Amino acid sequence: MTPAEAIRLQLLAWPEVEAYLDRCRAVILPLGSTEQHGPTGAIGTDALTAEAVALELGCRSGVLVAPTQAFGMAEHHLGFPGTISLQPSTLLAVLRDIVLSLAGHGFERIFVVNGHGGNIATARAAFAEAYGEASRRGLAVAPRLQCRLANWFMAGPVMREARDRYGDREGHHATPSEIAVTLHLHPSLERLRRPLPEAAPAGPIHGPDDFRRRHPDGRMGSDPNLAEAAHGAVFIDRAATALLDDLQRFISEEASNGST
Ligand code: NI
Repeated sequence: MTPAEAIRLQLLAWPEVEAYLDRCRAVILPLGSTEQHGPTGAIGTDALTAEAVALELGCRSGVLVAPTQAFGMAEHHLGFPGTISLQPSTLLAVLRDIVLSLAGHGFERIFVVNGHGGNIATARAAFAEAYGEASRRGLAVAPRLQCRLANWFMAGPVMREARDRYGDREGHHATPSEIAVTLHLHPSLERLRRPLPEAAPAGPIHGPDDFRRRHPDGRMGSDPNLAEAAHGAVFIDRAATALLDDLQRFISEEASNGST
């Protein structure tokens, strides 16, 4: 078993998880979305990127990585074929139940590596529900249970790298930084590359019909043609470095210091 396999929950047997819990009570959960990323970006971009960052973080920290929650809150992208969305209330229930399952086994620190801005509000609400429910159920870990949402694409070093490389053409959806990560992971996605017109600028987000009217090809102010596979490796490194710091502080924090 390679070190990269040893940190994947999916590849362990339950006695191994039990033994892990004797030495570490933290787990990483990648959270993505399955939604359009413009005419040249993969539907799975947000899940693929979150998973890649989470696995790199797991390798560097030794913290277990749970299976990726690949469906997120993408209601406004439903005007484009291929998008699969959970309504906020559904995603909330899914994340709450994942956290409660893990907490029931003794996991106390749930570090969620998120790849999609649309998940943020719902994930925070899910954490609040999980804390309350863990307490009502009388779970042994309830007083120490903490969840943290780590949005890899919003980490300072990642945003600086994107600005330095792409400037304003990074945009807000189907960005060259996230597309670069997918090109690094799956070179076959180069087949989608082609010149694109100027993207519609970012604006307010409402329903799927309004989104498609404002952003006809799905992009928000981005130029994914600037993405190169080699950049993707750099973005994963920047994200993992920033999040490792965050994760280590999160694990070592006392429960009395509050939670995010
Ligand atoms: Ni995305």
